[in-house]
Amino acid sequence: MTRDRVTIITPYPPDEWNAAVELYETTTGPFFTTDWEHVRGYWPDLFTEHDLYRPGLRFLEVGCFEGQTTRWLLEHTKATVDVVDPFTVERLGVSQWDRFRRNTAGFSGRLRAHNNYSSAVLRRLRTPFEFIYIDGAHDADDVLSDSVLAWPLLSPGGVMVWDDYDWPGDAWKRPKTGVDAFISCYERHMIHGPRGVQYVAVKR
Ligand SMILES: C[S@@+](CC[C@H](N)C(=O)[O-])C[C@H]1O[C@@H](n2cnc3c(N)ncnc32)[C@H](O)[C@@H]1O
Repeated sequence: MTRDRVTIITPYPPDEWNAAVELYETTTGPFFTTDWEHVRGYWPDLFTEHDLYRPGLRFLEVGCFEGQTTRWLLEHTKATVDVVDPFTVERLGVSQWDRFRRNTAGFSGRLRAHNNYSSAVLRRLRTPFEFIYIDGAHDADDVLSDSVLAWPLLSPGGVMVWDDYDWPGDAWKRPKTGVDAFISCYERHMIHGPRGVQYVAVKR
């Protein structure tokens, strides 16, 4: 499917694989093999509510995959964006790093990519961020540890969002288990609640 300048192939059954590879090679511009735009359809309202369109802000995305959300943040706000990802997911015979770079081309001045696991990067970062998106490893223990490591980096009044809060399945495999554990320990420092399939906390 082609939407504006963005080519999205989802789902991509095996018999369409070669066509997808050809499309990737013969088109230019952003190209996403998975479309997550609908899960953050409320973000324009959220960003207005919390004044996140103002200049001079810093955002952090833990788990950026091909850069679809990274690109949205760069196109729609004036913020600088840090992303954390080990970039190990090859698709269409193209490395994740190359797909990410294609999808965020033109924004390198406001983008800093940390090519590593969050457990290493979040311990090193010292920047305060006004917005943090937790969307990396989805097991409950990973979500909990990303939350604990990222929370001190969030400025007062800043917004943290977790994806896939609604995932079904075993407790240890669900982001919800990690988010709920984190919220129950930290909730006196925040205003929080679910928003569609995501969960949002605002630091007091
Ligand atoms: C669901 S995708 C992220 C989607 C992206 N936020 C978006 O909206 O387009 C999850 C990403 O987390 C990354 N990831 C998995 N484990 C990670 C870890 N321990 N630290 C950082 N990123 C991780 C994967 O490589 C993958 O790119």
